[in-house]
Amino acid sequence: MKILITGAKGQLGRDCAQVLGAAHAVSAFGSRELDIGDRAAVTDLMGSGYDLVLNCAAYTAVDGCETDREQCWRVNADGPGILAAACARQGSRLIHISTDYVFDGAKPPPRGYTEEDPVGPLSRYGLSKLEGERRIREQTPDHLIIRTAWLYGIGGRNFLKTMLRLAVGNPKRPIRVVNDQFGSLTWTRRLAGQIRVLIDSGLAGTIHATAEGSGTWYEGARLFLEAMGVQFTIEPCTTAEYPTPARRPVNSILENGILKKTGLNRMVPWEEDVLEFARVHREELLAEARG
Ligand SMILES: NC(=O)c1ccc[n+]([C@@H]2O[C@H](COP(=O)([O-])OP(=O)(O)OC[C@H]3O[C@@H](n4cnc5c(N)ncnc54)[C@H](OP(=O)(O)O)[C@@H]3O)[C@@H](O)[C@H]2O)c1
Repeated sequence: MKILITGAKGQLGRDCAQVLGAAHAVSAFGSRELDIGDRAAVTDLMGSGYDLVLNCAAYTAVDGCETDREQCWRVNADGPGILAAACARQGSRLIHISTDYVFDGAKPPPRGYTEEDPVGPLSRYGLSKLEGERRIREQTPDHLIIRTAWLYGIGGRNFLKTMLRLAVGNPKRPIRVVNDQFGSLTWTRRLAGQIRVLIDSGLAGTIHATAEGSGTWYEGARLFLEAMGVQFTIEPCTTAEYPTPARRPVNSILENGILKKTGLNRMVPWEEDVLEFARVHREELLAEARG
């Protein structure tokens, strides 16, 4: 299959380019090669006849979206609409990545959000991603929207890398980590493998795909730093003690309902993948954290 990956220099884009490249003819474009908000550029490129477009591009700075509203909307809402219209014209399938931030997080954990649950974003980021979903549904029936959450991978910046950098920088200085938000840390490499299975399946619609089980940011940081074998001091704190410009859902847990019903679920417990991530990338992660 001829596949175009957008946002290919991001965490998920990089892993998808690698994993899908083993089975398909992949063209991977970073933001410099293809701006998904540029209709003319998208139309031009899509003329090359792709069977499938995988959109990993997004404006992912959640707090930044509160102030940089125009660019956030352009990338997260306009961009998917432009891609979807081009896919419809060319007869290409579109796979798009969305987020747990489309929900308000009010459901009591550890119950997770299913694909049928009503949405209610709390932030500009969540609103823009929800609008991206809506435009895709409006433009092309041949789509799969995959909502995921709490991503980490070897390429790019993420929560686990930040924890490691802080621990390595000063093992005695307490790192305060939020312990009252619940979710599932999800490895981009695992998700890329799941996407490969989904491409083969031809599944359409809107689905959830995160690691199995759930925990807090604090629990995730602790497990990862222990697995990395570094010295660290960590303290749990509340969301109220760590205010941010954008409101975040208290409950970010997504239930992989459709993946399970269709027998396509390839996601594993989040703890397993955090340990595997630390094992596989230990030296590279430490070198990066030491700067
Ligand atoms: N990270 C998470 O925890 C998380 C959670 C839930 C859902 N998601 C979703 O998962 C997907 C992948 O996330 P990720 O963590 O891999 O994000 P990421 O590492 O921030 O990668 C996103 C990529 O999109 C690129 N991009 C930005 N504007 C673009 C534009 N106008 N045209 C083309 N590319 C553009 C960025 O390039 P530049 O760096 O050059 O701007 C970046 O390389 C996104 O849809 C995100 O919303 C992420």
